[in-house]
Amino acid sequence: MAKTSSPKNPRPVLGFLGGGTMAEALIRGLSASREFSLQVSDKIKERLVHLNSHYRVKITEDNLELVQSSQVIILAVKPPVVPAVLSEIKTVFRDKLLISIAAGIPVNRLKSVLGKNSRVIRVMPNNPAMVGAGVTAVYADPSVRREDLELTAGIFRTVGLTAFIESEKLMNAVTGLSGSGPAFIYIVAEALSDAGVKLGLSRPLSDLLSSRTILGAGRMLEETRKHPAELKNQVTSPGGTTIAGIEVLEARGLRSALIEAVAAAARRSQELETAGEKTVKIKS
Ligand SMILES: NC(=O)c1ccc[n+]([C@@H]2O[C@H](COP(=O)([O-])OP(=O)(O)OC[C@H]3O[C@@H](n4cnc5c(N)ncnc54)[C@H](OP(=O)(O)O)[C@@H]3O)[C@@H](O)[C@H]2O)c1
Repeated sequence: MAKTSSPKNPRPVLGFLGGGTMAEALIRGLSASREFSLQVSDKIKERLVHLNSHYRVKITEDNLELVQSSQVIILAVKPPVVPAVLSEIKTVFRDKLLISIAAGIPVNRLKSVLGKNSRVIRVMPNNPAMVGAGVTAVYADPSVRREDLELTAGIFRTVGLTAFIESEKLMNAVTGLSGSGPAFIYIVAEALSDAGVKLGLSRPLSDLLSSRTILGAGRMLEETRKHPAELKNQVTSPGGTTIAGIEVLEARGLRSALIEAVAAAARRSQELETAGEKTVKIKS
């Protein structure tokens, strides 16, 4: 529920380090909820002007100023930039809460710069957060306070659902499934639309039928809570059209292609994490 601020009880200040695509998705969700006072720093002035004019967030080009004046910091720069940004802010970070959305950077690597007792939470949101339909995995080591976890979940609930994971190792699987998964589904959408065009439908109509079919199937899964196999069986009549199509999907290996695609993405996530450990030395 939206809280109102008063001079006695001001809203907590949430600062974004980096004002790119994912930061904007969160700022959009959070500015509607009005629970936090929002501010953002970025190296690109045009980005800051854009964010200020659309969401009325406070802006600065100075990362240190942002950290000093925020209680909670969301690390939203690209992974290769993280070491430099952490080195820059470490002297003013102190006892603040850092929530990192940077892919492939483990909590202990962040803590190795900010201090071993620092409050750090790692999350992995995904691309549909941009329309409020994301899913975000949240990981924190056992030292993290319950209220910090609840606050983090509250932040990411403004752009979709949240799920806690108990082991950081699972972040690679999350990255393969919900992180890379939207791209896999966009390919399915494109292919379905191409099929419609091949069969004589116009491109706009094919695009509409394809995207609404995917959206509708997703909503059926979520709202009925039925197993996908049960929903599939409901639309597969004996000797009918759907089973003829399913036979082709099975023969062409759609299931194993998707399983292997998610596994390959997870493997790549692990490789990048390991490569980061070897090549990116964070100065402490
Ligand atoms: N987009 C997604 O779907 C998604 C999903 C899950 C996780 N993530 C994670 O979210 C993080 C941000 O991704 P994104 O897609 O939002 O990237 P992005 O659009 O490139 O945003 C990063 C922003 O930070 C700015 N920046 C670079 N160096 C900076 C510095 N030293 N201080 C302050 N700002 C700086 C960038 O400016 P320049 O362009 O000049 O570098 C850019 O505007 C990444 O770590 C990524 O792994 C993204």
